[in-house]
Amino acid sequence: MGIVYLNGEYLPVADAKISVDDRGFLFSDGIYEVTPSYRGRLFGWERHLQRLLKGLCELRIDQDVAGLEEIHRRLLTENDLTDAETALVYLQITRGAAPRTHAFPREPVPPTVYAFAKAWRRPSPERWERGFEAVSVPDRRWARADIKTVSLLPNVLAQQASVDAGVDDALLVRDGMAVEGAHQNFFAVFGDTLVTHPASNVILHGITRGYVLEIARELGIPVEERAIVVESLAHATEAFFTGTTTEVRPTTRIDGEPLGSGEVGPVTRRLAEAFRARIEAAVTDAGVAAD
Ligand code: PDD
Repeated sequence: MGIVYLNGEYLPVADAKISVDDRGFLFSDGIYEVTPSYRGRLFGWERHLQRLLKGLCELRIDQDVAGLEEIHRRLLTENDLTDAETALVYLQITRGAAPRTHAFPREPVPPTVYAFAKAWRRPSPERWERGFEAVSVPDRRWARADIKTVSLLPNVLAQQASVDAGVDDALLVRDGMAVEGAHQNFFAVFGDTLVTHPASNVILHGITRGYVLEIARELGIPVEERAIVVESLAHATEAFFTGTTTEVRPTTRIDGEPLGSGEVGPVTRRLAEAFRARIEAAVTDAGVAAD
């Protein structure tokens, strides 16, 4: 049985209990992070921590983050994931448990801090080579999609729409623009240029997105951060999603139509390989993962 962390304790998941007054349960009043681990080494930890801090600040939740890295490491150890090729640690912090009122509790209560670790699997190289299919779905989220809140109902419904359509991913469309996926960022290639939505309030500022943009610039691939009109995808030669556990994932069909040649393209392949190399360099480094 998995060992999880809850409010200072490591305990079997079946023994981890949260109050029905928890504001995460009642109001989705909380944030989360998902940090990947490769062979037991956290990748991008500082970036995930900075995004978490920004979220805590936006929600005005007062939580010390000093011990969080150690919690992540210990969960990997407790769950025998230090040798796992790919694993993740999920962390959630809510405003805590208090009798239900919309405004913050008058007397501050301790935030609820919960974390678990689990393994995940990459698609096989053969599966990846076939490319993935997405369906476009209206983006019904609020105007602060840049905050990683646990309020994910529109994302849940969008992802379910992709399952119902028998495809792999959902592409969220807001005001005619393809902004991101239900749980990933979205990129398209037009001519020789890599394009992705700007890091505004309507998308999550993905850590993987940031790495891929850095890598593209290092490789001399022209990059534009601008809105993508969904109809313009008819002229895109390649597209892909990025995210923790998604890494770089080629999209070769949208709404049943082949994108570009309908095959995984060279820019996607180059970026996917360079991103994997970046991970390898960070996790095989003798010292602290230098990412
Ligand atoms: N999802 N956009 C959305 C809406 C997301 O939920 C995520 C992450 C991303 C990619 O961000 P990153 O590269 O930092 O993982 C983009 C996580 C993994 C999840 O909800 O499980």
